[in-house]
Amino acid sequence: MKETIKDFDVYHKNNKQIMKFGYFDDKNREYVITNPQTPWPWINYLGNEDFFSLISNTAGGYSFYKDAKFRRLTRYRYNNVPMDSGGRYFYINDEGTIWSPGWKPCKTPLDSYECRHGMNYTTIQGEKNGVIAKTLFFVPLKTWAEVQKLTLTNKSSAVKKLTIFSFVEWAMWNAATDMENFQRNFSTGEVEIEGSVIYHKTEYRERRNHYAYYSVNVPVKGFDTDRETFFGLYNGFDEPQVVTEGKPTNTIAHGWSPIASHCIEVELQPGEEKNLVFMLGYVENAGDKKWESKDIINKTKAKKCIELFDTAAKVDIAFAGLRSYWDNLLSVYTLDSGDEKLDRMVNIWNQYQCMITFCFSRSASYFESGIGRGMGFRDSNQDLIGFVHQIPERARERIIDIASTQFPDGGCYHQYQPLTKKGNNEIGQGFNDDPMWLIFGTTSYIKETGDFSILNEAVPYDNKPGTEVTLFRHLTVSFNHVVNNLGPHGLPLIGRADWNDCLNLNCFSYDPNESFQTTENKSEGSKAESLMIAGLFVVYGRAYVELCLRIGNTKEASSAQKHIDTMIEAIKTHGWDGEWFLRAYDYFGNKIGSNENEEGKIFIESNGWCTMAGIGKEEGLCEKALNSVKERLECEHGIVLNNPAFTKYYIEYGEISSYPPGYKENAGIFCHNNPWIMIGETIIGRGRQAWEYYRKICPAYLEEVSDLHKTEPYVYSQMIAGKDAFKPGEAKNSWLTGTASWNFYTITQFILGVQPEYDGLRIDPCIPDDWKGFKVTRKYRGATYHIEVQNPAGISKGVKEVIVDGKPQTSNLIPLSGNGLEHAVTVVLG
Ligand code: BGC
Repeated sequence: MKETIKDFDVYHKNNKQIMKFGYFDDKNREYVITNPQTPWPWINYLGNEDFFSLISNTAGGYSFYKDAKFRRLTRYRYNNVPMDSGGRYFYINDEGTIWSPGWKPCKTPLDSYECRHGMNYTTIQGEKNGVIAKTLFFVPLKTWAEVQKLTLTNKSSAVKKLTIFSFVEWAMWNAATDMENFQRNFSTGEVEIEGSVIYHKTEYRERRNHYAYYSVNVPVKGFDTDRETFFGLYNGFDEPQVVTEGKPTNTIAHGWSPIASHCIEVELQPGEEKNLVFMLGYVENAGDKKWESKDIINKTKAKKCIELFDTAAKVDIAFAGLRSYWDNLLSVYTLDSGDEKLDRMVNIWNQYQCMITFCFSRSASYFESGIGRGMGFRDSNQDLIGFVHQIPERARERIIDIASTQFPDGGCYHQYQPLTKKGNNEIGQGFNDDPMWLIFGTTSYIKETGDFSILNEAVPYDNKPGTEVTLFRHLTVSFNHVVNNLGPHGLPLIGRADWNDCLNLNCFSYDPNESFQTTENKSEGSKAESLMIAGLFVVYGRAYVELCLRIGNTKEASSAQKHIDTMIEAIKTHGWDGEWFLRAYDYFGNKIGSNENEEGKIFIESNGWCTMAGIGKEEGLCEKALNSVKERLECEHGIVLNNPAFTKYYIEYGEISSYPPGYKENAGIFCHNNPWIMIGETIIGRGRQAWEYYRKICPAYLEEVSDLHKTEPYVYSQMIAGKDAFKPGEAKNSWLTGTASWNFYTITQFILGVQPEYDGLRIDPCIPDDWKGFKVTRKYRGATYHIEVQNPAGISKGVKEVIVDGKPQTSNLIPLSGNGLEHAVTVVLG
């Protein structure tokens, strides 16, 4: 007998060993969810340019145009009961049996359910009483709309008469005021209906030049736009009154909460299949072209867009276009390692997640509400390394946007808004690691593309016209910002925080209404210094020097080098604690991350950056530091941020000690910084250890413990609860995290060791000694390299022989050919 979802639930509860909720379909690049009751909504993202949607495995989520705060099309309720309320829902009334293809919101037990999350598309299929309803959701390339193709198939031997209701709820554009300003919102809502299209035109009569629409490609039996009529005031999403009664009421919303619901009658003969195409779209009109006639909006653009996708055949062509777009993106770096979990992460999911962080930075996910943070300065620079090989031209634009929010002294806005691209005043500046990341982003871009011309681009400060200097100058002021802000030990002053937003050494806050990030109750005369920025400065300072030499600026190169040498000395003298690198000095000049401390004796960040910089490698400091990390910070689920965890609030440390032990920055496994240790391990040649750390937090390897892990098994989460937590191993904050790019960077460039440099690809793997080898195909600067790494001697690191197109080479740097050809590269370790 076929298992219904309900049976499956019981089975699941009684059989704790079943921890999976689906499986990977690598051929189609999909994760297939077979049980809708995942431990947390498992989501996907649609769109990758201007129009975006979040969609969960039960069709929850919302859509927006460019900016999740200022142009929210549909309403979503974060942190609701039940979780994941609101989305694009289809209700099927099959002669009294009411169900939804995604199980939610009706939760009628289905005969089968399957959700496939793919590259910027999702399909959700449900089956009930002989009817299969399959929905394909995606945003076609270059389109400001989400297409929803609903395919209904009658598998039964009887004629089926179905009444279909669609549903979305409009947001009043600004997602923040949408949630608070009800005295206004309840009076402003306006809609317009023409044919099968429902237009949302709230505030269009005044300052907005944009509206949204929801259409279907067949005549409708009716519609509804008044929410309370559709649901009944006291009903939930699971029992809309109109659906239960099977009849639309053609309501026109005036104020309150406008929605859009079509009602369509579909008759299916046995075996018959029918398609309906819905579109949820966004239109902007020029100020003088807003109206068709008084109060009637100009619909020309909407109609044009609807027409492009008004048949299933047109939709299928657009969908094929999206798929080949992804074929192309993912063809730049492909791995054949013989380990399917590793291959699927490197070839598919990790790269996909990097693209998503490119689009959203830290703005909109199921943990980021889309109204809080915009694009982070440091975040966006780090994200870059994960997608620069896929979309270099967009990485270029991003670098210019980021640099435009810098100040003349090298300081930077910590965040900027994607719609305006302007720095976010609410958070301001003062995070002293920010500037150095611009060097990382820019040099990574040039190493990938060879495009030195970007350095000559005229880029303003703080977006102020007339202040433009070259991008190279921005890098110089970035470098100098550290040099000009040194503390008593010659180490970088931390400012409000370094990479660790929660180590707020000048905050000193007793007031719960103050933000840890923006409050500096005590910064005058602060002695708070960061060893993390010190290491970062050495790593990207060297990158700056290398760049200066490249462009012939030897004077700047040698003066910068002196600052780096001085910093290295300062780290060795004042930053070494005996067994590991210190984390910081606090406001008073006391050590943080030292054996002398009672709690927080050792931290991950400074040990990551100082070993990445190879500081004291010859004297054995790196090895010692990494051994201490292993001994004190490693646990079953990854490397925790600090140890021992803070068990009380330290006013002189700030937010870090506000978290309960084991969570977030207080001894959580912050997956973003684990790769820093992995890279450190590769610097000293310990491939096995680097790999073991990689595997521990890599989602595909955690699929079997999905129950515990909770978040999606196809993407990284920002944090996994650490060993001191109540539930070690439980992850939070999936999708939008620098973890994506850092793990991709680490596995591809340091473990597999394929590194773009100014003059070519350097191949310098650092792998577990029992790996026999692997193959990578890398498209790079106009040629394709088929690289085969062999490890006959069973070692971790060291290249003995390199052969390119049959010719032995003298170094492991594969010179550029740029001739559009394919090249066979054999690399023998030994
Ligand atoms: C932020 C990063 C920060 C990290 C550590 C993340 O949530 O996006 O900018 O470096 O937390 O605090």
